[in-house]
Amino acid sequence: PAACPAGPHHPAPEAPGPVPELFSWEFATDPYPAYAWLREHAPVRRTRLPSGVEAWLVTRYGDAKQALADPRLSKNPAHHGQPAHAKSKTGIPGERSANLMTHLLNIDPPDHTRLRRLVSKAFTPRRVAEFAPRVQELTDRLIDQFAEKGQADLIHDFAFPLPIYAICDLLGVPREDQDDFRDWAGMMIRHGGGPRGGVARSVKKMRGYLAELIHRKRLEPGDDLISGLIRASDHGEHLTENEAAAMAFILLFAGFETTVNLIGNGTYALLTHPDQRERLQDSLRDGDTGLLETGLEELLRFDGPVELATWRYATEPLTVGGEDIATGDPVLVVLAAADRDPERFRYPDTLDLSRRDNQHLGYGHGIHYCLGAPLARLEGQTALATLLRRLPDLRLAAEPGDLRWRGGLIMRGLRTLPVEFAPAQ
Ligand code: HEM
Repeated sequence: PAACPAGPHHPAPEAPGPVPELFSWEFATDPYPAYAWLREHAPVRRTRLPSGVEAWLVTRYGDAKQALADPRLSKNPAHHGQPAHAKSKTGIPGERSANLMTHLLNIDPPDHTRLRRLVSKAFTPRRVAEFAPRVQELTDRLIDQFAEKGQADLIHDFAFPLPIYAICDLLGVPREDQDDFRDWAGMMIRHGGGPRGGVARSVKKMRGYLAELIHRKRLEPGDDLISGLIRASDHGEHLTENEAAAMAFILLFAGFETTVNLIGNGTYALLTHPDQRERLQDSLRDGDTGLLETGLEELLRFDGPVELATWRYATEPLTVGGEDIATGDPVLVVLAAADRDPERFRYPDTLDLSRRDNQHLGYGHGIHYCLGAPLARLEGQTALATLLRRLPDLRLAAEPGDLRWRGGLIMRGLRTLPVEFAPAQ
């Protein structure tokens, strides 16, 4: 692999050496040396996960891209012998057979094609662009709340509330109910990989609330995304109330922790790469947003929020990277490893905000490519640019080694990000 002239780098060891320990505390802090080892010595590897389930980890860019687009790798857990979409009912009037788990990330064509086309009619890049002033206002309001203190935990005070309020606004959840969402989402993020009880209760509350909201919006439609989802039609077909609820839920679920981590990991990377941060700050001061745009993509490649793409299951025997995968086997594409592959990226372990040849896999690839990418870009760019503009001397208030990372399986992000700065208005 290419040696890196500047930032931290993790060249793969010469000899295979011992298999690195995956899913340990050190691994959660910095998984990249282990991923370099896997890419080099076992690029498609059957691995026992902390849950006890065995899955194939795919770590090279070429294999990852191919696997993400392979129709023989299904998203439907039924192919792994799990019940086809859990049986619980939503209690939503007009429900057909689906429930909240029948969402885009759990289904295959032709159902996926139909639902994705319908939601794409409501969740358009134009709707997102029109939302820009509101994201700016939210960002400023959150910074106002800690700017005078000279210190903050950027996860708790900023990265966490911003996406939840943004998506609530977009969906049409009234302001007075948004703090309930903040609490439920907090429960889901805190206990994502831990005790299930609180999470199940929060999901239940959110489900009940969404069912009722959708019912209300059907009677009294507004200009929001939920009303858009109800209205959306394709060749005379509409979403059922249940499908609209599942869609609202996946938009919340897929668009929440990802964006928290985009802002958290992105700010952390900037604060620990002062030369890059200075370049960005200078270009923003000159009114140039070019570096912000390429830079956000680079932050996604360098340390993106989604470490592993969501589960896929082989519907027939297939070969990935020379390994034979049997029917029913789970396959996990390790986006974080693929995006540091020296076969694809020059100096992959260097953060270069102006990187142009940057077809990273941070938003996935193929038919499940992130539907929320335009919103994530808007939130990420607004958040980072506003932080650097309003708190120009922002700095870490902890040693990087003392920060704790969440050791979930799919997501990668910090638990806290303590910062300090000269108090500002
Ligand atoms: C799918 C990443 C933000 C909604 C995906 C996938 C990735 C991803 C990797 C594909 C997963 C797979 O193939 O297994 C991200 C990142 C984000 C982000 C890194 C933030 C930086 C958002 C936001 C929303 C959203 C803000 C919506 C509000 C979705 C949806 C899907 C998806 C609905 C499923 C699409 C489908 O299956 O057709 N995202 N996402 N995401 N994302 Fe995002």
